[in-house]
Amino acid sequence: MIRNLLKWAGGKSQLLSEIVPRLPSGFVTYYEPFMGGGALFFHLARAGLIRNAFLSDVNWDLITLYKAVRDDPEGVDRQISTLEFNNNRLDYYRARSLFNELPESESTRRAALMLYLNRHCFNGLHRYNSTGKFNVPFGNYRNPSMPGREELLEFAGLLRKAVLEVSDFQEILGRARKGDFVYMDPPYVPLSKTSAFTSYTMNGFSLEDQSRLARVARELDSRGARFMISHSATHIVKDLFSGFNLHEVKARRAINSIGTGRGAIAELIITNYDA
Ligand SMILES: C[S@@+](CC[C@H](N)C(=O)[O-])C[C@H]1O[C@@H](n2cnc3c(N)ncnc32)[C@H](O)[C@@H]1O
Repeated sequence: MIRNLLKWAGGKSQLLSEIVPRLPSGFVTYYEPFMGGGALFFHLARAGLIRNAFLSDVNWDLITLYKAVRDDPEGVDRQISTLEFNNNRLDYYRARSLFNELPESESTRRAALMLYLNRHCFNGLHRYNSTGKFNVPFGNYRNPSMPGREELLEFAGLLRKAVLEVSDFQEILGRARKGDFVYMDPPYVPLSKTSAFTSYTMNGFSLEDQSRLARVARELDSRGARFMISHSATHIVKDLFSGFNLHEVKARRAINSIGTGRGAIAELIITNYDA
């Protein structure tokens, strides 16, 4: 099992066996504009397949954490060692309040706290309330671990190949050119009203955003950049991306507002090249 720095809703670790064989054989710059846990980037970087990369996400906390780990892994490790929170409900909610109060300028300490929250919260969710406060409940896991110094140094090394930016996907993708490869894993179109998990940021991701994504994909195609998109296998998505190659694959997903929604469901891998 590949170890990621963060558990992330919609994380792609379980789909790598479907994604990797369908990647193009080579590319100049790698783009991942919905980075989240970055499962594919870390996998490719470990395999030595990334020369340079643009990684971005609208989530400020997330990108700030990656920057802290990349630029000061020893500092993040030191901050982790000063955290006095164990794996229990009371400590978790104390850590959550502290995270929500800490100024943005304390990025190394915030990174350490976010790692604690991510590994102790419910299902690796990262969700905010309407006032921008992180509000995910305690996860109650048996043996959650924190990343050690060696692990942080390893992730720092992998991230050193990357430019990291807080950005909407459209802005970043204006830079992709012929010869580049873009992997996009947007928030999915909800399968039903109750499975509408799209609150990665305060803004969510609307149907209009899905159409904007389809327009951006067509622009990338006309500029000669190659792309792959992971998406839900719904009629809306198939219509939006008609004309591209659509591969249906099975995935296991655990993020669902009702536990009974777990299980194998169909996902799409969309490419603008033969895969
Ligand atoms: C399905 S997750 C990505 C999962 C990731 N591939 C992984 O392996 O963990 C979608 C990500 O898109 C981000 N996002 C939502 N709206 C966005 C936007 N307009 N532009 C860029 N990123 C956005 C969310 O913050 C979230 O991290």
